Amino acid sequence: MKKIEEYYVPWVKGIPMYISEHIELAWRDPSLHRMMSNENPVPPSEKVVEAMVKYAKMANRYPDQGLVVRSKIAEINGLDGPQNVIIGNGSSEVYDNIFRMFIDPGEEVIQHTPCFGIYKLRGVLLGAKMVSVPMIYKDNFLHFDPEGILNAITDKTKVIVVANPNNPTGNFMDTKHFITIAETGIPFIIDEAYIEYAGLSMSQVALTKKYPNVLITRTLSKAYGLAGMRFGYALGSEAVIKQISGSLLPWNVGIIPMWGALAAFEDTEGLAERIKYNNDEIKFITDSFKDIPGLVTLPSAANYILFDGGAAGKKGIDMVKLAETKGVILRQNEAMYGSEGWFRVTIGSKEENRLFVSLVREFFGMKN
Ligand SMILES: Cc1ncc(COP(=O)(O)O)c(C=O)c1O
Repeated sequence: MKKIEEYYVPWVKGIPMYISEHIELAWRDPSLHRMMSNENPVPPSEKVVEAMVKYAKMANRYPDQGLVVRSKIAEINGLDGPQNVIIGNGSSEVYDNIFRMFIDPGEEVIQHTPCFGIYKLRGVLLGAKMVSVPMIYKDNFLHFDPEGILNAITDKTKVIVVANPNNPTGNFMDTKHFITIAETGIPFIIDEAYIEYAGLSMSQVALTKKYPNVLITRTLSKAYGLAGMRFGYALGSEAVIKQISGSLLPWNVGIIPMWGALAAFEDTEGLAERIKYNNDEIKFITDSFKDIPGLVTLPSAANYILFDGGAAGKKGIDMVKLAETKGVILRQNEAMYGSEGWFRVTIGSKEENRLFVSLVREFFGMKN
């Protein structure tokens, strides 16, 4: 008799459950300051809560396939209709749906690093080989490297994914480079998880009309402030969305997130307030460190900021540890470009942001 291990698909053996240690920790101890996961510090608006409560009372019923909210999303983005939109439990699930429709074991996914971890998580599960193209660190800035991406393409490349703005770097790639990559015809996913902070005018959604290989992913977890509700979506040409929709679990999005999302899209004032708050605080934090020698603060168009204290002889891990002593959870970034000085903060409440500023200044030996 064969052992159970021998029945597993070879490339899934030993894959652990995804556990985000810092999120687990934050739920165990609600007094901690959650400045690590690019969440929104502002709770949902009354309008959104009302919609969720209304539909919670109908939770004995199955949802439909989200026709109303998908139509609303299409309208906001200047697309023809719900046939251009697929919805999921956060954009993480949407990545799963998309990847399933393209990737065979051994085929390649190009990602631009440093980047968000979900592409690798879902790719590895399908037996994909992840090809990481590093951004270029020059003049205290992490530059996109579209040439590097093009050079990494092989006949096994099945997906290229670029986040815009990128997490954790916070910057945008130029439209002309998106066009060059789109022209290859390879499935090209543009992750716009944070696009609302800079405005939809920065979106590459128009490319989906010309290039059927281009897909845009979005989420309500960031500017809309609904990470715990779980709602994300992808935009694309009708034929491609139709094909990818074949991988959807029936009723994958419940009625509470579905109608909560619709209320959030309708609450344009609530979104505008959250964006203004965030962008003002990003400016406040960025401006607070201008006098710190050797600290690189990367300009951010999102709700987090990446720092490199390497030139000041500092390690990101030590900053994270110092913050921990005050109950603040930050994110350390692994060593890269010869520096161990990387750390990232997510915008918190006003008090939290001021506490963060004073901790960083203390860490770099500056007056507060
Ligand atoms: C670039 C990027 N894409 C996607 C996501 C996933 O968001 P969700 O699954 O909550 O929609 C995140 C979350 O941090 C992210 O940073």
